[in-house]
Amino acid sequence: MKIALLPGDGIGPEVTAEAVRILKNVAEHAGTPITFTTHAIGGVAIDAEGAGLPEATLEACLGADAVLLGAVGHPKFDGRLPSERPEAALLALRQALGGFANLRPAICYAPLAKRTAFQPERVRGANLLIIRELLGGLYYGEPRGFEASGDTAFNTLIYSRHEIDRVARVAFERARERRGHVASIDKANVLETSRLWRTVVSDVAKEYPDIALEHVYVDTCAMRLATTPTSFDVMLCDNLFGDILSDQAASIAGSLGLLPSATLGGTVDLYEPVHGSAPDIAGKGWANPIGAIASAAMLLRFTAGMEKEAAEIDHAIEDALASGARTRDLAGPGERVLSTHEMGHAIEDALAEVRDRRHSYHAV
Ligand code: NAD
Ligand code: IPM
Ligand code: MN
Repeated sequence: MKIALLPGDGIGPEVTAEAVRILKNVAEHAGTPITFTTHAIGGVAIDAEGAGLPEATLEACLGADAVLLGAVGHPKFDGRLPSERPEAALLALRQALGGFANLRPAICYAPLAKRTAFQPERVRGANLLIIRELLGGLYYGEPRGFEASGDTAFNTLIYSRHEIDRVARVAFERARERRGHVASIDKANVLETSRLWRTVVSDVAKEYPDIALEHVYVDTCAMRLATTPTSFDVMLCDNLFGDILSDQAASIAGSLGLLPSATLGGTVDLYEPVHGSAPDIAGKGWANPIGAIASAAMLLRFTAGMEKEAAEIDHAIEDALASGARTRDLAGPGERVLSTHEMGHAIEDALAEVRDRRHSYHAV
């Protein structure tokens, strides 16, 4: 298997280094060769090559079996237009790879329930999967821009039946593997695109009579995520709502650094943690690598077909947390704080133990 590794900016290189070490460990143990080639993207690519997504990077990604990305973005580009920022490189890469379904699981790991901002009994047991439409909506809609005066700006929110249909099918299929419930998130009381979203999702639902579908307004959804997150299983969202709600879901898990993602449905699958480049902690060894490591597990599950190894990593993450391994974002008063690298090692050690014990494990 060939993986194009795009560490990117800020904590991106720190967290992907740990994910790569775990993948190499798995490759060696399973006797399945995995090769990595590293390429520039984002702010570091703008600085070095004058382009956020250099041609060579894109070519390498298109020639790989999967792409593993850290994060992009740096405050020094804050004054720039969206199209000239590091983030534009990521949006262009997503478009070029073609994956439209972005899977963002969020789990409240039992040992962390008391570390969240919520009463532990509210979040304990929460285990949800946001399916975020990744190639449409406000992010890519045309026309967009500023009017000549510079005092008016506009973006276009546009969705076609085709775009909604294909991502809805992913949500229903995933729900079949989980608890059989899809919440489709929209703003159908205000937006035409949401009216269409609701219609198409309801049409697709007719082909999945075994799955329970509910339509939830996005504002209510935000409230319910804070009050009764356990009432959700699969959450189907458009591009913008999925972006916002996945960060909110991170508060149920306990830290943004915990959340992984997989982007499927295109020519090459893309794996990236949900968090950004975290300039406030970059270079300090404080970053939580679990989002990146869990993204690597998703890569094994969805691209490599290595479900057993993926589940073992998921289990190792749970075990490391249960044994008290905490990066700075997870540590409570008096708890020992591990560096990014130490957390990677704690999970690698837990992985060895998981293999030894050969626990049965039910995947997300
Ligand atoms: P962010 O996700 O980088 O950070 C938000 C907060 O969460 C910060 O306090 C940060 O320290 C913390 N955090 C994030 N990841 C963490 C981790 N692994 N371990 C511990 N703490 C972690 O969001 P932001 O600060 O709003 O954005 C910073 C830059 O990242 C911006 O340029 C933004 O556009 C970009 N960004 C990139 C991606 C991506 O590449 N996929 C995603 C989100 C934001
Ligand atoms: C994410 C990020 C990106 C997005 C940015 C950096 C373009 O916030 O992956 O959640 O909005 O999709
Ligand atoms: Mn985001």
